[in-house]
Amino acid sequence: MVQKVTENNKSPLTFALLGCGMAANIHADAIQEIEGATLKGVFDPNVISRESFSKKYNITIYSSFEELLNDANIDVVCVCTPSFLHAEHTIAALKSGKHVVVEKPMAMSSADADKIIKASQDTGKLVTVISQIRFSPDVQKIKDLLKENAFGTVSLCSLSMNYYRTPEYYSSSNWRGSMTLDGGVLMNQGIHGIDLIEYIMGPVKEVKGKTGTIVHNIEAPDTAVAVIEFECGVLGIIEASTCAYPGFSRRIKIQGDKGYVVLKENNIEKLMINGEKIIDKVQSEQIVKTAKDPTKILCGLHRLQIENFVRAINAKEPLLVDGVEGRKALTVIEKIYNIT
Ligand SMILES: NC(=O)c1ccc[n+]([C@@H]2O[C@H](COP(=O)([O-])OP(=O)(O)OC[C@H]3O[C@@H](n4cnc5c(N)ncnc54)[C@H](O)[C@@H]3O)[C@@H](O)[C@H]2O)c1
Repeated sequence: MVQKVTENNKSPLTFALLGCGMAANIHADAIQEIEGATLKGVFDPNVISRESFSKKYNITIYSSFEELLNDANIDVVCVCTPSFLHAEHTIAALKSGKHVVVEKPMAMSSADADKIIKASQDTGKLVTVISQIRFSPDVQKIKDLLKENAFGTVSLCSLSMNYYRTPEYYSSSNWRGSMTLDGGVLMNQGIHGIDLIEYIMGPVKEVKGKTGTIVHNIEAPDTAVAVIEFECGVLGIIEASTCAYPGFSRRIKIQGDKGYVVLKENNIEKLMINGEKIIDKVQSEQIVKTAKDPTKILCGLHRLQIENFVRAINAKEPLLVDGVEGRKALTVIEKIYNIT
């Protein structure tokens, strides 16, 4: 285990991971880079996975979730389990006195998200919902440009996520592609883009959509489209799929009467302000690795979000993505899925 000393000589917060699959590696890599955080242990029912994970990060193995929760030395639990377990695990960790970093989606329904928000209020323990792309410097830049009216009057904000997942991606897992355990294209992959358009453009007034299971042999939708109206009057279109071979980058396009911006995955691809092209990365479409392979996600933006969480726990800055923020995308997805 790496020994760390913080700026103000306070002991770093100690973290434990619940689940040690793909997302847990991103969390562990991020925590290792944070001065105010130390990774101490992991629990996963898969004995082989947890043993190799504990060796990789040189951390303790807990033999059960209860043992992890009973370790008084743990301050923060990262919930990196399959999506359908997030609400149950987050609430149990909050009630045992831990702060919680929970992967997206925070729950499979806004009703369960409300239970997490209440548990956080009742216990006084903080929860942050991973929405790491909000922490991209280019996303912050777009928010600043909108505040300055750099694009003039904005009429459109649209999301296009033409991803590809292989049949093996679904068949190799006992939860991916299930409606109740995974939630399909919007609940799993599309939630980042939906979170971002609402984060950038403000509250959603109305959204209407249609979904289909068109290519993959799964229960949940693999494709969705929607029309969206934001409270500020801006309109937009959402298209999302995991069937678009070979997999293209997610794009968010915001257009006004004086300019536009295109966010490609986490970075600005095109920017025009007052008719002047500031950024124009016109390239043949290079397949962004994460558009077809989710294991290629790097830990930098998770690090920024977990750093904010550590500083919020230490009362050094406000918490940027709490449960109320994490819940917002869920309500939009429920409307597109026609779940009320
Ligand atoms: N923010 C992102 O960009 C991002 C990226 C990948 C995954 N995720 C999210 O992270 C979550 C996990 O995804 P993943 O790809 O790591 O899945 P995964 O299947 O690779 O890993 C899940 C792990 O949880 C373990 N697990 C199952 N039941 C458990 C239990 N009761 N207690 C403890 N561990 C348990 C499994 O054994 C497995 O090791 C999902 O909700 C997914 O949406 C987010």
